[in-house]
Amino acid sequence: MKKNIKFRVNGKRVELEVPTNRLLIDCLRYDLGLTGTKEGCSVGVCGACTVLMDGDMISSCLTLAVFADGHEITTVEGLAKNGELHPVQKSFIQYGGFQCGICTPGQVVAAKALLDHNPRPTEEEIKDWMMGNLCRCTGYYKIIESIQRAHEFAK
Ligand code: FES
Ligand code: FES
Repeated sequence: MKKNIKFRVNGKRVELEVPTNRLLIDCLRYDLGLTGTKEGCSVGVCGACTVLMDGDMISSCLTLAVFADGHEITTVEGLAKNGELHPVQKSFIQYGGFQCGICTPGQVVAAKALLDHNPRPTEEEIKDWMMGNLCRCTGYYKIIESIQRAHEFAK
C-alpha cells in the first residue's frame, strides 16, 4: 500500500508517494538523496540516524516516512546557511569532535537541538542530552568540548 505525503525537508517542500512501511531514513537517503543522515544500528540505539521533526530529535530508522506528513524535517544538510556552517559544525572541526565521521551527522543534529534549548550547556547537561548518540572512535571528550565551545562560533 502506498500513500502520498507532503512535508518540508530543510525548508524545501517535498511531495512523494511512499509505501506505508517505508522508513524515514530510507526516504531521506534513497528517495531524496540526503545521504548525510547515517544508519548505524537500525534499531534506535546508536543515534547515527538522528534528524529533527519540528525541532525535536527523532530516530529516522524507527520512524515511518508517512509520519513526516505535514511536518518539518531537518537533516544535517540543513544546518549550514548561505554556505556557512552552523556554529556546532565549525566547533566540531575546530575542536576535533569526530574521527571516522559515521556518528557525526547524528551528533551534530542532536547538539544543535540541545543548543537551541540551552546555548551554554554544562558538561553534565551535554552528557545527559547526548546519551543517545554513540561513538566508537572519539572517547567522547572532544565531542563534549566541541559542543561546549560551539558558542565561540555563534554570531
Ligand atoms: S541507526 Fe537509528 S538509532 Fe542507530
Ligand atoms: S567518529 Fe567514528 S563513530 Fe564517532
